[in-house]
Amino acid sequence: MKEAIEAHLRQVEDFVPADATALEAFRVAYLGKKGHVTGYFTAFKSVPNEEKKEFGQWVNSLKQAVEAKIDAYREQFSAAPQRTGEDTTRPGVAFQPGAFHPITLVRNEIVRILERMGFAVAEGPEMEDDWHNFSALNFPPDHPARDMQDTFFLAQNPDWALRTHTSSIQVRAMAQQQPPIRVIAPGRVFRNEAISSRSHCVFHQVEGLYIDRNVSFADLKQTLLEFAQAFFGEQTQIRLRPSYFPFTEPSAEVDIWWGLENEVDYRMTKGTGWLEIMGCGMVDPAVLAASGIDPEVYSGFAFGMGIERIAMQRFQIPDIRAFYENDSRFLRAFQGAL
Ligand code: PHE
Repeated sequence: MKEAIEAHLRQVEDFVPADATALEAFRVAYLGKKGHVTGYFTAFKSVPNEEKKEFGQWVNSLKQAVEAKIDAYREQFSAAPQRTGEDTTRPGVAFQPGAFHPITLVRNEIVRILERMGFAVAEGPEMEDDWHNFSALNFPPDHPARDMQDTFFLAQNPDWALRTHTSSIQVRAMAQQQPPIRVIAPGRVFRNEAISSRSHCVFHQVEGLYIDRNVSFADLKQTLLEFAQAFFGEQTQIRLRPSYFPFTEPSAEVDIWWGLENEVDYRMTKGTGWLEIMGCGMVDPAVLAASGIDPEVYSGFAFGMGIERIAMQRFQIPDIRAFYENDSRFLRAFQGAL
């Protein structure tokens, strides 16, 4: 009996399992219902009393050796069960390089051009109170101009809203600095509008504000032309149409020439060939006064442009919704653009 157990012990010690299946077969062969160790324990009954102690010790040491072997390999196999037998020559999964979102690319380009012209970036919160989004910008309470901007008010407190434009940052800049002020404010804005190919309820603007002595409408026009030609190319034409904003007087809408060569051009420009990209005007004296700047001494201009519209023109994208669908085939198209 002793020899048989010792032979098993040597087998156990020499055993090297190839994989989890081999280890399990080993476990069953020794510890299973019909396994060797189980067999020895059954045989224990018929061992003479004086040999029981010694016999018990042999069987126990065999059992412990089997368990130690199983413990030594079990973790290794369960940690990487699929590693064995895998085809290690198979090519790996290709790494997908990321790309900047087209909105980010265009925003960065706009900011770069305006920074070169002397503007500095300013920031403000996306959730604004009535003062910064409306009142300080000369929107009187209950004035119909507030309806121009379909506002998302906060249910908990209707004095707060998601900003409808980046003009709220003008108010913050004027409260913080004395003229000369030359700031731009890129940011996300929100309007409760029906989503279509031309408009979305979330979009982006870049605001510009310049306040100093003797700032004139001619300065505004030249700044915008300079910007348009730097961004769209030297031949770019702009046109200004009279418009209305509560916070500027006079006000204008700025169009750039897009062209009328195909269906998309007609859709984008409502058949005119001109694409509206921003609003602008001379800062209303009431707005300067509300922010503690003396309108007798200072004047200024402001403009606000939609980044999506500009990106659509730049990349010939016919539908604004493409920016928010996160279709990786669309996003990949901008790798290395701009
Ligand atoms: N805030 C205006 C809008 O969102 C744009 C604008 C900015 C107009 C600055 C004039 C001056 O429509």
